[in-house]
Amino acid sequence: MLGIETSCDETAASVVSGLTVLSNEVYTQTEHSHFGGVVPEIASRNHVLKGTPIVRAALATAGVGLSDLTGIAVTQGPGLVGCLLVGLSLAKGLAWGAGLSIIGVHHIEGHLFSAFIGRQDLEPPVLALIASGGHTDLILVESLGCYQYIARTRDDAAGEAFDKVAKLLGLLKPGEPTMGGPRLSELAESGDPKAFSYPRGLPGQRAFSFSGLKTAVLYHLRKMSEEEILSAKPDIAASFQAAVVDSLVQKTIDAARSVKVNQLILAGGVAANKRLRLDMLDAAERNGMTLYVPDPDLCTDNAAMVAAAGAFRLALGEVSTLDLNADPRLVLPGSREIAV
Ligand code: KG4
Ligand code: ZN
Repeated sequence: MLGIETSCDETAASVVSGLTVLSNEVYTQTEHSHFGGVVPEIASRNHVLKGTPIVRAALATAGVGLSDLTGIAVTQGPGLVGCLLVGLSLAKGLAWGAGLSIIGVHHIEGHLFSAFIGRQDLEPPVLALIASGGHTDLILVESLGCYQYIARTRDDAAGEAFDKVAKLLGLLKPGEPTMGGPRLSELAESGDPKAFSYPRGLPGQRAFSFSGLKTAVLYHLRKMSEEEILSAKPDIAASFQAAVVDSLVQKTIDAARSVKVNQLILAGGVAANKRLRLDMLDAAERNGMTLYVPDPDLCTDNAAMVAAAGAFRLALGEVSTLDLNADPRLVLPGSREIAV
């Protein structure tokens, strides 16, 4: 199965066989650094330039040709519409030319499937926290393809908060990806997570909220001189990271207890965060729960997760047609909204 992912600023292609990854090629665009965030039109144009070479590389690394494939999975949404359209067009062209089935994949179902890659022992029910740049979703996976939202974010996603605070701290450098999480967590390693007490979101509620936290950091910075900021940066980063991690861990464990599930998945770009991985593992063990976390390179956007989710959908007998369209607000298939 070939997977293609172009929903934001990563151009990715991967070949998987069952739940084994044969290749996983990812190009992260750096052309947005001067703008402080992803510029949709620049991202789309870069996907046009990188798409074919990345697919060629994924096939070559896996040692397969198009005629060896059973199908092509491609992210249909959610994401930036122009970016999605480039990936879809590439997938359609290849599928049509090689006479292959094509299947559109929901990006979040892809993140969910990243936890199943290379693993035979994970069977639903499982509660999944998908924390990325655009989503902070707690999803109860009753069975594969049957999902119930347990909580979402009210405002900023967890990854978005990392990106915005990294920008406030001046951590984004020209010529580098605009993803702030890795830079911020590196800096946090030399800081004290208890130095400052930032808000932990909505206590007792089944919803995440990170915009208050971002604003708290902003107001805190406004009260400090440049010298004070410079010396306090590692402590600010560590204290901010602790607030995000505490909120994600606490709500996930509370929700797992209330829906009576003892298996957890942690996925999405923010799941690459070391502190989050360690604290979630610790909390899961203390509560008699088993945690499944993909390798960090399968947490951030990649196409192996898209191929894995697409293979599952194809095996169910689902197949898309060549009029498959991008949908920036695609609804997770088989999902029910939060029960009140
Ligand atoms: O899943 P992803 O690659 O793309 C989306 O679907 O959005 O997630 C990207 C997000 C970014 O906000 C990025 O800052 C965050 O994940 N991220 C991290 C780390 N690595 C990526 N956040 C915290 N710590 C990290 N190590
Ligand atoms: Zn993603």
